[in-house]
Amino acid sequence: MTAEIIAVKGRRVWDSRGRPTVEAEVHLSGGACGRAIAPAGASVGSGEAVDKRDGGRAFGGYDVLLAVAAVNGEIAEALIGHDARDQAVADALMIACDGTVDKSRLGGNAMVATSMAIAHAAACAENMPLWRYLAKGCDEIFLPLPEVQIFGGGAHAGRRVDVQDFMVVAVGARTYEQSLEWTAEVYRAAGTLMSEAGLMQGVADEGGFWPAFGSNEQALDFLVRAIELAGFAPGDEVAISLDIAASDFGRGGRYRLAADDREVDSDGLSEMLLSWLARYPIIAIEDPLGEDDPEAMARFTAAAGEGIQIVCDDFICTSAGKIEAAAAIGAGNTALIKPNQAGTLTETKAALDAARLAGWGSIVSARSGETEDVTIVHLAVGWGVKQLKVGSFARSERMAKWNEGLRIAEALTQGGGALPARQSFPWGQRL
Ligand code: PGA
Ligand code: ZN
Repeated sequence: MTAEIIAVKGRRVWDSRGRPTVEAEVHLSGGACGRAIAPAGASVGSGEAVDKRDGGRAFGGYDVLLAVAAVNGEIAEALIGHDARDQAVADALMIACDGTVDKSRLGGNAMVATSMAIAHAAACAENMPLWRYLAKGCDEIFLPLPEVQIFGGGAHAGRRVDVQDFMVVAVGARTYEQSLEWTAEVYRAAGTLMSEAGLMQGVADEGGFWPAFGSNEQALDFLVRAIELAGFAPGDEVAISLDIAASDFGRGGRYRLAADDREVDSDGLSEMLLSWLARYPIIAIEDPLGEDDPEAMARFTAAAGEGIQIVCDDFICTSAGKIEAAAAIGAGNTALIKPNQAGTLTETKAALDAARLAGWGSIVSARSGETEDVTIVHLAVGWGVKQLKVGSFARSERMAKWNEGLRIAEALTQGGGALPARQSFPWGQRL
């Protein structure tokens, strides 16, 4: 089937927080078509591709009519006539057309939606789902291990507690499907415990329970109890993972812990987190320090030791160059990979390759503002990324992604969707 881009269309759709966002649709000469929607974050790293928002009064300034116009106008003009199967060329054309370092002229939202739509169209032209198209030539295809939020927090829950994500990872599960089953039991158990304690107040931005706790530690205690109540061994079967998102409450090495009503310096925050690592079955900790605090991040990575994933999100913003710089000073050991932070799939893949070259782990991640778009699941499977983070186990913008993984698992004839061998995870030695 021929795969020349003949039309690119942008439209305004709405995300899980009721904000406008950009959908792009790409049509090819042979009749194939691909479509994708840009997500958006709340805790946004300063090095991210910049979303184009209209400003003004409508929808709090979040409207995207200018970004949609960019897709229908300049982006379409730049791409028409090019082969959709050459993603690198198509992305380079958009980057050149934009001409800024932060993608602010055409908009990271306009560009990432188009970039992902091109990939879907190319896969469709080859009669394949995107995951299979991207995995062409790989001998082993596996489903990623889900990292699932149980309690929301930080910027996603009115700063009720400082920590942004209290998550679980079903490290003992043998298959993707089983990891979802175990997670569903823990989520349910956490809800039961909160109701019994009179703390049930609905859910936060990504579907995790609203953290009506008096302290960060109380949330951790509830999480351990939820794992136990669900019938699993904390640590061995279901472990805890945290996203501290420290850039959201700290600058210049000073951190304001609202839940505890005190301010700490980098060493104070590190000590508190290291004490949690000693007391709770935590296997991963994301953005433990602010993005402007790389030396403290390096010290924390060394102090936490080998068996813990130190995940960089705001620190590296899905940038190959930033990952290389962080790896050079030992700040972190795992890259969070969010396509909309980079702005194109080519740059997202380059960040993943840089992480691999540095010996880092990687986790493909959704944003807090999501939609029914399931592209990231295809990217995780197609690129062979071992972990996937998409928020909680509730709300359809999250469940659409977990459910897409089930379909892919079923389609995999070999391995039946088995998770990659446990010992291949960085925390394997610890378990
Ligand atoms: P965000 O949060 O999408 O609001 O940035 C997700 C994360 O920090 O990982
Ligand atoms: Zn994060």
